Amino acid sequence: MRKRIERKTKVADAVKYYGADIIYSDKFKRSHKNMQHGNVSVMEHSISVSMMSVRLAKLTHLKYDYYSLVRGSLLHDYFLYDWHDKDKSHRLHGFRHADTALTNAADDFSINPIEANMIARHMFPLNIRPPRTREAVILCIADKICAAKETVSKPFYNKSIKKIHDK
Ligand SMILES: [Fe+2]
Ligand SMILES: [Fe+2]
Repeated sequence: MRKRIERKTKVADAVKYYGADIIYSDKFKRSHKNMQHGNVSVMEHSISVSMMSVRLAKLTHLKYDYYSLVRGSLLHDYFLYDWHDKDKSHRLHGFRHADTALTNAADDFSINPIEANMIARHMFPLNIRPPRTREAVILCIADKICAAKETVSKPFYNKSIKKIHDK
């Protein structure tokens, strides 16, 4: 049975509880080699976005499917390449990687419709298809906040990642 996220449930505990199989999978861990923004890896970014999504959701006091919220946000950038590498297949990364991440996520994990919409629509408004679920809207916002923070503050990531890996 899924654990219910209570107001007092710690964000890192929620992410670990629902996302442990993703976080400790080989491919996800390998994304630590691929840089996202600045010197923050895709793995670090994805964990931070998942934690930010839970934090924002708890702030709104609305109902969410926290299982999907955690997992969709962990997998939103599961494109599994370094987009800085000069390679033809990485062209238009900003427009294409959401679909690539969804394909990879569906190959490696069991993806439900809420998670699929989150992953596919997280690049709104660059990608013009808007998010359709509450969880997808939260992910969109959390992703932008983390992207802004990571370009200026590496310590923010070290703090988030420590909470996951130190337990
Ligand atoms: Fe992305
Ligand atoms: Fe992202």
